Amino acid sequence: MNGTDHRETLRALRDDHFDLIFPPEIRALSHRHWTPVSVACRAAEFLVSRPGTRVLDIGCGPGKFCIVGALTTPGHFTGVEQRGRLGSIARSMIEEAGIPNARIIHANVTEIDFSGYDAFYLFNPFAENLLEADRIDGTVDLSQSLYQKYAEHVAAQLASAPLGTRVATYWGPFDEIPVGYECLDTSLADTLKFWEKTRHAGADGLPAEAPASHGERRPSCDSAVS
Ligand SMILES: C[S@@+](CC[C@H](N)C(=O)[O-])C[C@H]1O[C@@H](n2cnc3c(N)ncnc32)[C@H](O)[C@@H]1O
Repeated sequence: MNGTDHRETLRALRDDHFDLIFPPEIRALSHRHWTPVSVACRAAEFLVSRPGTRVLDIGCGPGKFCIVGALTTPGHFTGVEQRGRLGSIARSMIEEAGIPNARIIHANVTEIDFSGYDAFYLFNPFAENLLEADRIDGTVDLSQSLYQKYAEHVAAQLASAPLGTRVATYWGPFDEIPVGYECLDTSLADTLKFWEKTRHAGADGLPAEAPASHGERRPSCDSAVS
């Protein structure tokens, strides 16, 4: 495919068209591991609250969320991916389609300082460490302790983000969402959740203004509208 063909395929914004840009073995993983186009559109629309909002996709795989977000909003999308092959596929797609507002970093999320970003997307990125049957490949170390380490890094970074920081999560147990973030809304049978930081946490990790007996580690989304 040349650059123009790529752009046309991506702009169709249908999963069966979009996934054709990937090599067959990466396309075969899409149903399970890459965000559906419709979900990416909704999440990106929530995260980009003004032109130029800097969105980080934590564990971007071959870049599907970043590409859809960059094509459908005026935000700037960065994906961080630990697997070199997935990162380079994402980078090639972005370059070949000439998408100026998306870029890919090949790194572990633990190397990323979140202060360079305004909003964050997570499609259950660390679940592979817990679910042996659901692994993408055998090229990276996976373990329960790595799950803990990655989730804690993200939670600590999000905890020091400014009030108003937005996060969208698709599936997942939300171990990465710290105290102070409120679930504003949910969609798609509660699988897609829209969070915003509305309070600072106190030194003990509890919401600063909450009574001591009132603190759970994370906010509940039960009362959100679906
Ligand atoms: C479920 S896939 C989601 C891909 C993409 N965000 C999407 O929605 O289409 C999770 C991705 O996170 C990556 N990942 C997992 N742990 C990571 C880490 N510690 N640092 C960077 N990437 C990571 C995996 O390699 C995988 O590609």
